Amino acid sequence: MKKKALIFGITGQDGSYLAEYLIKKNYIVHGVKRRSSSINTGRVDHIYQDPHVSNRTFILHYGDITDSLSVARLVKQIKPHEIYNLAAQSHVQVSFESPEYTANADAIGALRILEAIRFNKLEKKTKFYQAGTSELYGLNEKTPQNEKSFFHPASPYGVAKLYAHWITINYRESYNMFACNGILFNHESPRRGETFVTQKIVQAMCRIKQKKQKTLYLGNLYAKRDWGHARDFVHAMWLIMQRKDPKDFVIATGKQTTVKNFVNLVAKKLKIKLTWKGKGIKEKALDQKGQILVACDKAYFRPLEVNNLLGDSSRARKILNWKPKTSIRELVSEMVDKEMNETIG
Ligand code: NAP
Ligand code: GDD
Repeated sequence: MKKKALIFGITGQDGSYLAEYLIKKNYIVHGVKRRSSSINTGRVDHIYQDPHVSNRTFILHYGDITDSLSVARLVKQIKPHEIYNLAAQSHVQVSFESPEYTANADAIGALRILEAIRFNKLEKKTKFYQAGTSELYGLNEKTPQNEKSFFHPASPYGVAKLYAHWITINYRESYNMFACNGILFNHESPRRGETFVTQKIVQAMCRIKQKKQKTLYLGNLYAKRDWGHARDFVHAMWLIMQRKDPKDFVIATGKQTTVKNFVNLVAKKLKIKLTWKGKGIKEKALDQKGQILVACDKAYFRPLEVNNLLGDSSRARKILNWKPKTSIRELVSEMVDKEMNETIG
C-alpha cells in the first residue's frame, strides 16, 4: 500500500520540492492550497495531475491553515500517514506589518493540525512535521546554534513559530504522538519568493545585467545567514519523519555568508565588477563607469534585526546521516541561470 502524505503549504518553495521528492518515493501526495484571485500553483504545475486521471499520486485540495473546519475535514478525509506543516506567513519583515495574522497562521495553525490528528483519533497512525526555523534563535548570537541553544525570537514571525515549536513538543509529550520539529536555517532555490533577499538580489542583478534596471536597493548588508538549498533540506524533513521515535533536528550547512557577500557572488557569476564605497546607509556598489548598481534604503531595515545565524547540524549528520549536497556557489549559479534563461529576450 502506498503511503499518503498531506502537505500544508504545497504551493510554496519547500512544498513544491517536498511534493516532488515524495512522489518519487512512491507516496500519494495530498496538498492544501488557498483560494486566491490569481493562480498560485506555479511551483507545482509541472506535477499537476488532472482529476480525471485514475490512480492519481498528486491531489490538491482547497483549505486554509487559519480555518479549523477545513483543516479537521481534510485530516479526517485523507487520514494521512505523514503530515508536513509548511504553511506559514513566512516573511519576517511582513510579520511586523501583520503580526496578528502571522500569529493565527504560524502559531495556531500548527495547533489546529495537531488537534485534528488527536480528535480524529489518528495519534497512532499519523506523524506530524512542523516547519521550525532558525529565527527562533533571534537575538541569541552565540554561534553555532544547535538543538540545545536558547531561543530569543526577534519578530512576530519568530514568536509565532516559538509557539508552534513548543505546542508540537507538548502534543508529543502529552499524547505520545509522533510530532517533531525541523529547525531549518535559511534555504533558497530558483523557486524562492521574490521578496526574500537572495531571490531579490538574483533577479535585480540579472535585470541590471540585461540593462532593464539601474539600481538594486537593500537593507542591512551585514546580516549573516547560513544559506542552503531547499532541495537538500526537504530530504532532511523526510528523514526526520522516518525515525521510530520523534526528535527535533537542526538542519543547516554550517557555513555563513553576509548579504553583501551574496551580492558579490551573484555579481561574480554575472561577470559584473563591483566597487563598494561608503558606510552605513550610504554604502553603495558602483560599476566601472561609476553607475550606482547597489544602494541602501531604510525601508528595508527591520524594527529588530537577526544579525547572526549559523547552524550546527551535527545531530542530523550523526543520527539521520544527512548532509547538504549544494554549496552556496552552486546555489547562486542555479538561481542566476534559471533567472537569465527565463528573462532573456
Ligand atoms: P513560502 O514559499 O512562503 O511558502 C509558504 C506556503 O504556506 C505557501 O504555500 C503559502 O500559500 C502557504 N500559506 C500561507 N498562509 C497560509 C494559510 N493561511 N493557509 C494555508 N496555506 C498558507 O515558504 P517556504 O520557504 O516554502 O517555507 C516553508 C515553511 O518553512 C514555512 O513555514 C516557513 O516559515 C518555514 N521555514 C522556511 C525557511 C526558509 O529558509 N525557506 C527556513 C525555516 C523555516 P500561498 O502560495 O497561497 O501563499
Ligand atoms: N527580504 C529582504 N529584503 N531582506 C534583506 C534586504 C531586503 O531588501 N536587505 C537586507 N536584508 C536582510 C534581512 O534584514 C535579513 O537579515 C537577511 O537579509 C535575510 O532576509 P530574508 O531573505 O527576508 O530572510 P530571513 O532570514 O529574514 O527569513 C527567512 O529565513 C528564516 C530562517 O532563518 C525566511 O525564509 C523565514 O521564513 C525563515 O524562517
